[in-house]
Amino acid sequence: MPRRKAEKIMQQENINKIEENNAPDEKKSPAFPAGFLWGAAISSYQTEDNNSNSDWYALEMKIKQAGESEINCDYWNQWREYHNLLSELGAKAFRLSLEWPRLEPEEGRFSNKNFQHYREILHDLKDRNIKTVVTFWHWTSPVWFQEKYGFHKKESVEIFSRYGKKIIDELGDLIDIAVILNEPMMPLTFGFLLGKFPPYRRCFFKYKKAFRHLSEAYKIIYDYSKKKFPAVPVGVTILYNYFEPANKNNPLHRLIVGVYKKFWNESFFNSIKDKADYFGLDYYFHYRLALTGRKNENKKISDMGWEIYPEGIYEVLKEIKAKYNLPIYILENGLADKDDKYRAEFIRDHLKYVRQAIEGGIDVRGYFYWSLMDNFEWLHGYAPKFGLVAVDSKTLERKPRKSFYFYKSIIEKNGLE
Ligand code: BGC
Repeated sequence: MPRRKAEKIMQQENINKIEENNAPDEKKSPAFPAGFLWGAAISSYQTEDNNSNSDWYALEMKIKQAGESEINCDYWNQWREYHNLLSELGAKAFRLSLEWPRLEPEEGRFSNKNFQHYREILHDLKDRNIKTVVTFWHWTSPVWFQEKYGFHKKESVEIFSRYGKKIIDELGDLIDIAVILNEPMMPLTFGFLLGKFPPYRRCFFKYKKAFRHLSEAYKIIYDYSKKKFPAVPVGVTILYNYFEPANKNNPLHRLIVGVYKKFWNESFFNSIKDKADYFGLDYYFHYRLALTGRKNENKKISDMGWEIYPEGIYEVLKEIKAKYNLPIYILENGLADKDDKYRAEFIRDHLKYVRQAIEGGIDVRGYFYWSLMDNFEWLHGYAPKFGLVAVDSKTLERKPRKSFYFYKSIIEKNGLE
């Protein structure tokens, strides 16, 4: 039997097993496994402010609406206040990222001062018994790197892996889970195919090269980390969408779904899967695909117009288990909802499906809500409010939303009612 066919049959058998395990059973408890990592996530550029050494800075200044201030969260200085909120939430883990432009402000010169600053931040989390999930690259690069190189240049492999190794040398002892890259397909497609993120290219060949270089650099950093800290899980996050055919009986719709899955969900992870200790899932989107494009059901939508589709997280967890059979951390899931209308039910409904997946035998080890606080939402600026905590960008007053307390009660009970 051809290998691809055999793989497909095995994947289907795995999915059947998960579904059999999920036959209704009154005795099942709503609790999550002991040690489940309840957390929240942020990234450096989106929350630290004032990163003028970063390739996103010029773009941010363009996106910014008149009257919006330079300082919006100030995590860089006020991280203690945010950590107090994490303690209040009862978080078991926190996902944050390191800002490459701060750590290597000039080519080959690292900033000891800023490494020390991050040491303090990570230490504080440890002291609070909060596990550290540290992203090395959440899309932003130093200006010098973009001007002189960019990931399409072969030197990027050496330069980026040098940065990754330096993190492991300086901060490795304080990292519980290492996330080398956040959703690489976003900067790859938006930066090299669509021309919307730095370095604003629209070139398939440059895209292919950048893809290869990121993947190679990742593997070098993975090996280095394993040598120095063998017990620390290392991986990436993938923005993994739930694609399904608009019409299941239409072979062309099914074909399109296959192409989207291969390109968007799988291609990067497939390139590194032999060197990944877990699958880092970021789940936000569901699409029904037809020849005429993407549709969603628009039953309920967030402030960004994104469909709310919690059942999709169950489907993608099944797909990931069947394909990769690795432990899974849900490292992002959330919505923009300034009035906090849907956030609590959004969290509850997604977690119901996560719980169902765990009962079916899928090894899900953590859930991280995006985001702890309102922050800079890339091309959409400061209008979308993803936070469990509202931040007034004028006064920097922080106010937990109602859903913050809802999530806190879930964490306290280690599960749903
Ligand atoms: C990114 C975050 C972003 C979030 C909401 C994820 O794709 O990792 O940086 O803010 O989605 O759009």
